[in-house]
Amino acid sequence: MKIIVTGGCGFIGSNFIHYVMHKHPSYHIVNIDKLTYAGNLENLKGVERKSTYRFIKADICNSIAMKKVFDHYRPHAVVNFAAESHVDRSISAPAVFVKTNVLGVSTLLNCSLEYSVQKFLHISTDEVYGSIQRGKFTEKSVLEPSSPYSASKAAADAMVLAYVKTYGLPALITRSSNNYGPFQFPEKFIPLVINNALKDKKIPLYGDGRNIRDWIYVEDNCEAIDHVLHKGRIGEIYNIGGQNERENIFVIRAILKSLRKPASLIAYVKDRPGHDRRYALSIAKIKRHIGWTPRTSFESGIKKTIHWYKSNTPWLRNTETGAYRSFYTKYYSKMGLSE
Ligand code: NAD
Ligand code: TYD
Repeated sequence: MKIIVTGGCGFIGSNFIHYVMHKHPSYHIVNIDKLTYAGNLENLKGVERKSTYRFIKADICNSIAMKKVFDHYRPHAVVNFAAESHVDRSISAPAVFVKTNVLGVSTLLNCSLEYSVQKFLHISTDEVYGSIQRGKFTEKSVLEPSSPYSASKAAADAMVLAYVKTYGLPALITRSSNNYGPFQFPEKFIPLVINNALKDKKIPLYGDGRNIRDWIYVEDNCEAIDHVLHKGRIGEIYNIGGQNERENIFVIRAILKSLRKPASLIAYVKDRPGHDRRYALSIAKIKRHIGWTPRTSFESGIKKTIHWYKSNTPWLRNTETGAYRSFYTKYYSKMGLSE
């Protein structure tokens, strides 16, 4: 099987490439990535020389470049991870989220139709449902996105489903909860907490710190995506949840305890505008139809993740590019914290 993976230099995409190359050594992967601040070629060390792997630096919004790649490689399947993915960035600069997450997806959908791709798997998020006080979202829940990020992802999901109905494109969608694990850029909550704690830097905690996320270890998500790619039904949506709901304050305390760092590093800061209180997914459908359930408890996943970041300090240092630093200089000063 020949698969185009977009956004394969980011956090989940790179984990997915490692996962697939290990599980299906005969598969060919073509990784298309624009290498934004979040894309890091270092995430793919070890696979770049394999004959079954190709990297192409390109923007999924560029229809000419995309056509060329589809024409040359004639993929059987496309798995689309490429996106702008950070809620805080979407609040300060929403336009690029609309561009990549909506226009970019529609470009890929057009190419997939034109080149008769057999499966288009779009990677979406639980954030499209919005926040839920009690109970869990199913795939049939109404979409009520809160941030420009989640709104752009909801728009993309609607485009994918429209291409299934209107043009018969064989596409399907996964919506996962918050991922954590190796190679996650340290602007997202868990790697940020680990990174700051390792450097004895203050850890900004939004609002009252009691917002809840359902954490999934990234390898579990990769396994679920692989199952959906092979066994999922066209036109369907599959929730992928970790079944590990934790308050943010709990997550910070667990990390600080494991690193033997003081609670005084926690700095309560102004809440994020439109901050969703709780995300929670029902995974009954993927369990029933695909036979997948998550394997990793939060306790074991966080232990592995902390170990990975402690053992990969050069990687962590290298992520601190100009873009990363200038964003955070502005951001930290807005929050009243010095970097
Ligand atoms: P990430 O920000 O770490 O990686 C995104 C990748 O996409 C980067 O390598 C970046 O260079 C690339 N990219 C961005 N714009 C591009 C463009 N125009 N053309 C080509 N490449 C481009 O994101 P992630 O956390 O790995 O998320 C991957 C996908 O999973 C996203 O679609 C995201 O919405 C979804 N998702 C993420 C989470 C999570 O917890 N991280 C949860 C649910 C869903
Ligand atoms: P994040 O990793 O940005 O994921 P998302 O907002 O997409 O769920 O944030 C996870 C949670 O952590 C969210 O409730 C916001 C909170 N948070 C903080 O309290 N401080 C921070 O510095 C960051 C980045 C997030």
